[in-house]
Amino acid sequence: MRRPFVIGNWKMNGTIESSRELAVAADKEARSLSEIDIGICPPFVRIAQAAQVVAGGPLQLGAQDCAKQSDGAFTGEVSAKMLEAHGCRLTLVGHSERRTLFGETDADVAQKAQRALEAGLMPMICVGESLDERNAGRTEERVGSQLDAVLDRLQAEQTADLSRITVAYEPVWAIGTGLSATPEQAGEVHAFLRRRIESRDPKAALRIRILYGGSVGQDNARALFSESEIDGALVGGASLDAEKFAKICQAASRSIHRSESDRSG
Ligand code: PGA
Repeated sequence: MRRPFVIGNWKMNGTIESSRELAVAADKEARSLSEIDIGICPPFVRIAQAAQVVAGGPLQLGAQDCAKQSDGAFTGEVSAKMLEAHGCRLTLVGHSERRTLFGETDADVAQKAQRALEAGLMPMICVGESLDERNAGRTEERVGSQLDAVLDRLQAEQTADLSRITVAYEPVWAIGTGLSATPEQAGEVHAFLRRRIESRDPKAALRIRILYGGSVGQDNARALFSESEIDGALVGGASLDAEKFAKICQAASRSIHRSESDRSG
């Protein structure tokens, strides 16, 4: 079983004070649930503050995005190297809000993933289909091509072994809508993504974690985590409430104990 990972994506939310409180609460949760990984992705300007809170502890600090360039005259951008220097261990790339609202292409996402790996960050590659694509039976085609764009580039550049990436399956229709994919729907897509990785690198396919994201909350976390293909969750809205986020982390932790007792019983 892969080690579960629950990560909060705060998006463009929070004050200096509320961000500190959320980071402190997540840090406490990460220290008490040692059998899972927990992370937070604050907005860029809160990363240094969060780094002070997580320093030396197990809570993983991540960014929501990084530049596709390494450095130079790119006004407004933040490089993967800078994020690493401020204590980040990972960065999201290709979140659907970046793709749909800011016009990020598959090629941009692939470049960002490469920059992240070069800087020593774990890229969390977000993929997901729109409602129209799902209704047209094109889910696999869409998420397959989003993933391939990144894997093609990483393999062509020989940047690193593929097992250093994480994938987040986030159906666009489930993000922020309260309408989560069912564990079966998500499980099917996760299995498809894993087979896709397996066809290139069977060893990496066993190790790469595939998280689910899209309206994960305290009420559906347990069911989602009981699906063996779901290795954790990328949590948006519910990660802005320390108690809800803690409950999701606790559900992930309990899912380990359940699957252990299933195996022994
Ligand atoms: P949500 O967002 O949990 O609010 O649906 C998930 C995400 O965008 O990562």
